[in-house]
Amino acid sequence: MTEREIIRIEDLSKSFYGKQGEVVALEKIDLSIRKGEIFGVIGLSGAGKSTLVRCINFLERPTQGRVIFDGKDLSQLNEAELRLARRSMGMIFQGFFLFAQRTAFRNICFPMEIAGVYDKQQMQERAMELLDLVGLREKANAYPSQLSGGQQQRIAIARALATNPKVLLCDEATSALDPTTTQSILSLLQDINQQIGVTIIIITHEMRVIEQVCHRVAVIDQSHIVEVGEVKDVFLRPQSQIAKQLILPRGEGVEQVTGERCLRIVFDGSTPAEPIISNMTLSCQAAVNILFADTKNIAGNAVGHMVVQLPEDETAQARILAYLDGKKLYYKEERLHDYV
Ligand SMILES: Nc1ncnc2c1ncn2[C@@H]1O[C@H](COP(=O)(O)OP(=O)(O)O)[C@@H](O)[C@H]1O
Ligand SMILES: [Mg+2]
Repeated sequence: MTEREIIRIEDLSKSFYGKQGEVVALEKIDLSIRKGEIFGVIGLSGAGKSTLVRCINFLERPTQGRVIFDGKDLSQLNEAELRLARRSMGMIFQGFFLFAQRTAFRNICFPMEIAGVYDKQQMQERAMELLDLVGLREKANAYPSQLSGGQQQRIAIARALATNPKVLLCDEATSALDPTTTQSILSLLQDINQQIGVTIIIITHEMRVIEQVCHRVAVIDQSHIVEVGEVKDVFLRPQSQIAKQLILPRGEGVEQVTGERCLRIVFDGSTPAEPIISNMTLSCQAAVNILFADTKNIAGNAVGHMVVQLPEDETAQARILAYLDGKKLYYKEERLHDYV
């Protein structure tokens, strides 16, 4: 364990044994997480991501291998010591899991009550401080059912931070949220990381989550880590098949457009995607090259984003921008060389 590491995972394997025999969820995982970083783990459903987080905090005991957290080999700890170590690892999930009968304030107090080392005043002060941190002081007395999904996740984050953990584990924490709320939760995690220096591990199947906040990323596929690196390196030069599949734009329907300008168009769910691009081509008499698209159809409208390469002709470019403005679509300039 070096000075800069907070977690080291060594030769970790995890199997489940059931009616169908052995299910290998993780095999020979080696990872090193640095203090203060935001580390992403991306993979498809069933790859082993949730099992990995649960092994990191020893909610699941690895079948083989070690987890060294803050200098301690977790397999060597007794139950009491493990509980103490877990208190240093906050966790949030896709489903928030707030206590329905407790107010936001009392949800945040919960881990401090369990820890049993805080007096009432300390708990109150800490809970209010955390409500401020997540921007929800005015919701202290609201019950989870009175909060939006994004607000519930903010309270869950505050609760996870209550006992001053060194690491925050996030398992698909934004997967149930719409794109705008996802962005705000990710910015909050980023602020928290910068302000209090907590190490954050983000588990997701969505590459935009990794792209927006992570410093480094590991790609997990079928129980194995197939790639680890700085996000920009992995995104620009994915090596494994699965990373290419998750990251690279599909090559279909790409025409030759020679312009250097490139736009990212964001679909916030208020318009359908397909007609926009084809109508734009018709009404502007200019084709764009779709370099990347990650849009989902939700109730007939598009949610996601798309990167298009503009034609070389400046008038055509201006027409396209005007068209997008007219449709009230948000867009921003991108660097072509990040995509081709
Ligand atoms: N408690 C369990 N018992 C049996 N199999 C499990 C259990 N938890 C996970 N698995 C299996 O382990 C594999 C990885 O699951 P999981 O870690 O949940 O993947 P992910 O979070 O990437 O979707 C899957 O094949 C899953 O069915
Ligand atoms: Mg999972």
